[in-house]
Amino acid sequence: MNTKAMNNPSKYLGNELTYLGKVLNAESWSATGGSWTIGLERAFAEKIGVKYGIAFNSGTSTLHAALEAAGVGPGDEVISPAMTVIMDTTATFHANAVPVYADVDPRTFTMDPGDLARKITPRTKAIITVALYGLSPDMSPIMELARAKNIPVIEDNAQAVLSYYKGRILGTIGDMASFSFENTKHISCGEGGMIVTNNEGYAETVRKIGGHGFKNLRADEGRIRLNMEVFQNPHYKRHDVLGWNYRLSEFNSAIALAQLERIEELVELRKKSAGFFIDAMKTCDYLIPQQVPDGYVNSYYTLGVIYEGLDSIGVKWEDFRKAYVEAGGDGIYGAWSVPYLEPMVATRRFVKRCPWVYEKISYSEGICPVAESIQPKIMQFKTNYRDLTLAEKKAEILLKVIKRFSS
Ligand SMILES: Cc1ncc(COP(=O)(O)O)c(C=O)c1O
Repeated sequence: MNTKAMNNPSKYLGNELTYLGKVLNAESWSATGGSWTIGLERAFAEKIGVKYGIAFNSGTSTLHAALEAAGVGPGDEVISPAMTVIMDTTATFHANAVPVYADVDPRTFTMDPGDLARKITPRTKAIITVALYGLSPDMSPIMELARAKNIPVIEDNAQAVLSYYKGRILGTIGDMASFSFENTKHISCGEGGMIVTNNEGYAETVRKIGGHGFKNLRADEGRIRLNMEVFQNPHYKRHDVLGWNYRLSEFNSAIALAQLERIEELVELRKKSAGFFIDAMKTCDYLIPQQVPDGYVNSYYTLGVIYEGLDSIGVKWEDFRKAYVEAGGDGIYGAWSVPYLEPMVATRRFVKRCPWVYEKISYSEGICPVAESIQPKIMQFKTNYRDLTLAEKKAEILLKVIKRFSS
């Protein structure tokens, strides 16, 4: 079968189109007046099992707002893991704070609590944990360290919806949790995000930070014109917090809501797709999937694997990828560079935004040796198949490539 000719079914198999039509016909297309964003927020919070959901326009603006709400400011330190995307770092810079990196566990690729303990200083004002590829970090020791020092924890669950840590769903462990609805994520509306929390103070503050600081915004309410007589009065003062416009539009909210209605099925598809590839990898010793410890449930945003083929069969990373793609497999992504070796950080391009904070700060190789050593070996296999027959076929192709290299 020619799998290149088989198409992945549409992303939008639920109520997306119907809901979009309703938004088009509604008076408000903005969360400040409409009801779709509120509907999404409430449904998402209920799904995770928390009191508050606050919709944002990305899973980066969420992180920035969460840091600001946690009181992070110029010169404060924010610890995030070394194996993650750049956005945990950029959000930290947006708060004029200093990114500090904790190394990772070489088997799970998530934050190493031992290194976190070493990196905490009196200046640490927040910890961002990242559920990489859908797998929770070891949250118990992280929370213990954070609680002992009174440091707020922000879960970055951009890649993890319906992931679990020892029976607890991600989003309920830290003080606030961030999700992303960007194009490739479990729930997608093109671009979007969500903060969830049980803390009313944080919920109200993040909503204000993401909503121009309107003073009448509340933890559970994103509409701003609740009393027109007051709102339209020239003596009314509107803003009591420095905020940005990080709101999610009604259109995006309607699409995300339709996706949320099918989230169990969407996550299940990714888990099963990952399972096919993991089975194929059992036939060789050089593709080592991210280890999922007992009691963890990985929602498999993608399947992360360490490639040891250079040592084992003498085949370079690039050549293995090429062989798989030429045989009809999908592109394999490498892992992002550790953030502090990206040119924006390594060349200190951030210094001028706050020189008195950053003049003495610099980053170089060797800060997190484990992350630096595994990053070039990682392969990310696609799990975003909405037809399991297609995923199965791709795993068969992988198996053939493995057999070819073994013979
Ligand atoms: C771990 C992680 N954090 C944050 C983000 C940022 O999310 P967004 O692209 O919605 O800004 C992403 C998205 O790729 C991510 O994977």
